[in-house]
Amino acid sequence: MAESTKNATLTVGDKTIELPMFSPTSGPDVIDIRKLYAQAGVFTYDPGFTSTASCDSTITFIDGDEGILTHRGYPIGELAEKSHYLEVCYLLLYGELPSPVELEDFEHRVTNHTMIHEQMINFFRGFRRDAHPMAVMVGVVGAMSAFYHDSTDINDEWQREVASIRLIAKMPTIAAMAFKYTIGQPFVYPRNDLDYASNFLRMCFAVPAEDYVVDPILSRAMDRIFTLHADHEQNASTSTVRLASSSGANPFACIAAGIACLWGPAHGGANQACLEMLKEIGTPDRIPEFIARAKDKDDPFRLMGFGHRVYKNFDPRATVMKQSADEVLELMGVENNPILQVAKELEKQALEDPYFADKKLFPNVDFYSGIILEAMGFPTSMFTPIFALARTVGWISQWKEQLNDPQLKIGRPRQLYQGEDIRAYVDIEKR
Ligand code: SDX
Repeated sequence: MAESTKNATLTVGDKTIELPMFSPTSGPDVIDIRKLYAQAGVFTYDPGFTSTASCDSTITFIDGDEGILTHRGYPIGELAEKSHYLEVCYLLLYGELPSPVELEDFEHRVTNHTMIHEQMINFFRGFRRDAHPMAVMVGVVGAMSAFYHDSTDINDEWQREVASIRLIAKMPTIAAMAFKYTIGQPFVYPRNDLDYASNFLRMCFAVPAEDYVVDPILSRAMDRIFTLHADHEQNASTSTVRLASSSGANPFACIAAGIACLWGPAHGGANQACLEMLKEIGTPDRIPEFIARAKDKDDPFRLMGFGHRVYKNFDPRATVMKQSADEVLELMGVENNPILQVAKELEKQALEDPYFADKKLFPNVDFYSGIILEAMGFPTSMFTPIFALARTVGWISQWKEQLNDPQLKIGRPRQLYQGEDIRAYVDIEKR
């Protein structure tokens, strides 16, 4: 961690204390408040952690005002254009772009871990057919700790590495199986002669009656969606993984916790919620009604796919995703799809509306990813599982970074207690 070069002075009552400050590579300085309670007897108060840095990291940087997102210093737009998902996985995990030999070795290791333990199939059969695929993923990923005992010891670097590769490799297989199970079709095994994105598409759309030939435009779009969702600093699900890991929980349990958090409609569930919203709007003439609802303080409705905790400018991933959407819509011949017409008109009207402009609410990554996935033929229930699949490498990279942090402590926030003061128990006869 960088040396502190300056202090912040804080006066609390009759006490004045000096708190060290640290300057990052990029972004705002931080005030180190680790000794605040010991020195001044007070807590800070920051529900939602809008002004709180929970850790120091070298993986991903976001500048929400400038719409900047980098992974290990490389801008997301360049990675989306010039790289591919498994190379980005290597970059996130190990900190540098791989050499040709390193990339070939990494891709070989991932490819040869894509099958899951055959007995895990019984897990799927325990779910109702109409179970949400995210419920299946949370359950099956958590259950991996019951099958892969040789990669659960977080204190063993080799086991951490094996668990990392297993999770990245098996998530597409598990997501595809969750999809197949809910539509009543047989599972399709992965194939080692296909790239990561093509393998996933085939496991989702191939059937015994006829194989599925992957269109290179679709596999490129799928790979790009994976890349754009790979990591995103200390978002809610990543913070969940870090908090779970701080107790020493095994990697599969931590990733299952991340999947559970991502499911929420305010987070990774927004892509599904966005498409469902577009379907509810139905036709462009109903857009003003929904924009009015989104602006109404008394109405909890929000425009799904708009706004972001950090980006107060265009989400740079949305910019790339929007280009991908046009390619896929053209290929699939769905540019005249009524839902997609609603999406384009909604984007136009919202961006022209002062409410959204003033509050800096722009379309985010989830607005366009849902459109592409819909055009590719995925049901909305598969949108968030695909997000979870892609984000696994981000969760794993942050998990590894935290375990290597010599400052690692169990995460244990305090609170502003507003409840009753101490009082004596009242016997029931006297109540
Ligand atoms: C992801 O953190 C990450 O990095 C997440 C993510 C990742 O890659 O991990 O980027 C993925 O989760 C993207 C976000 C997907 N969620 C949605 O699209 C759901 C819709 N968006 C909102 O729920 C909301 O914008 C959040 C949850 C994303 C952000 O919430 P904040 O930061 O708490 O924003 P806020 O509630 O403080 O909003 C500020 C104002 C509020 O109005 P006022 O109280 O100031 O009057 O903007 C309003 C909000 O009511 N507002 C919206 C809105 N989002 C915020 N009004 C209408 N529609 C919206 N979508």
